[in-house]
Order: sequence, then C-alpha cells, then structure tokens
Amino acid sequence: MSCRVVVLLSGRGSNFQAIAAAKLPVEIVAVVSNRPQAAGLAWARERGFATVALDHTEYADRAAFDARLAHEIESHRPDLVVLAGYMRILSPAFIDRFEGRLLNIHPSLLPMFPGLKTHERALAEGVKVHGCTVHFVTADLDHGPIVIQAAVPVRADDTPDTLAARVLAQEHRIYPQAIRWFAEGRLEIRHGRVNLKGDPTSQSVLTTER
Ligand code: GRF
Repeated sequence: MSCRVVVLLSGRGSNFQAIAAAKLPVEIVAVVSNRPQAAGLAWARERGFATVALDHTEYADRAAFDARLAHEIESHRPDLVVLAGYMRILSPAFIDRFEGRLLNIHPSLLPMFPGLKTHERALAEGVKVHGCTVHFVTADLDHGPIVIQAAVPVRADDTPDTLAARVLAQEHRIYPQAIRWFAEGRLEIRHGRVNLKGDPTSQSVLTTER
C-alpha cells in the first residue's frame, strides 16, 4: 500500500514540484493552500492533482482556520503531511493531531536561524556554511527532530538571492529524499532525534560546490 501524502503550500511551490518530479513511492492525494492564488496550487491543478484552496482570511482566528484545515486534510486520509513553503504558524492543536506524520523544510541549518529571512541573517552573521533542514514539526517552532540537512559554502560575494538559490537547489534534493525514507518506513524518532534505519550517514549532504 503506498504512502498517502497531503502537501500544504502558500507560494510558488518549487519544493512541491521537486517532490512531484521525484518518482517517490507515494501518492500525492491532495495539495492544499491557504492562499487561493498561490502559483504552486495552479501548477498542481494544471497537472491533475486534487487541489483545495482554503483562504485563511475568511476565518475568525487561527484556531478556527486550523480546525477546518485539519478536517480537510483528514478527509484525504494521509499517512504524511508535507509542509512545502506553508507560510503560516500552525496551532498546537493542529500539530498535536499530526505529530509524527508532519514534515517541514526550513532554509537554514537548524537550530541556527529559525524563523524568517534566514539567508539575510546568515550573511549578516558571517557564517561560512549555510543550508537547509527537513524536520518533523513539533510545537517548538523550527526545532523538531531533524531528518536530513544539506550544507552549502557561503561565498564572499553572496547576496541573499544568490545564497537562497543555491540553498533552494539543495532543498529540492533533500525533501524528496526525506519523504522517500518516511514512505519506506525508515524514520524512527527516539528521544527527539531521528534515527535512519540502515544508513545513518546519508542524513547529511555536503555539497562540493565552491
Ligand atoms: C523554501 O525556501 C522553504 O525552505 C521555505 O519556504 C520556501 C518555499 O519555496 N519553507 P517553494 O514555495 O517551495 O518554492
């Protein structure tokens, strides 16, 4: 039986496109967006994925919206919920409901630079290595158990945009990989850490680019 995946996105959806292109042993049963105009949702619709637009501005508060969102997601009976550029904080009740089957990608080497504007902040700090992280979502924002990370060197002439582009290329590698592992039943969370059954060394990706 294949792994049923619901994807949540708010924007352009390049991570979703990478996941869809990766020929994973999963069935993407729905793509849901809190922004009806999201480019990623249009892309999904054009390719025949089941899409759902739920406009968060039409709900009284976060709890009401998240309750509706959770109900919608559950109706697709997912084994895994994938946040692919979903730009809204999730309420504790939502996270509780999906904990252990909720993945996110974040554009930094967590626990460095949680939150927004990660590339600007990395450059401002002068770090020499930056990257991205796929992690399970917990109530602690951007701090859940880490599945895989990829690191890229920071160049002296990097701007937030050039750095973001190189990190994004790595996001497109590691997110499909993380989902594949989940679908294969290889991810085990123990004491807040992810154990990859089989080959733990493949949880870090070091790019060779200069
Ligand atoms: C990515 O940088 C991801 O790490 C962050 O939001 C961005 C989404 O980009 N969570 P896209 O919509 O997948 O192109």
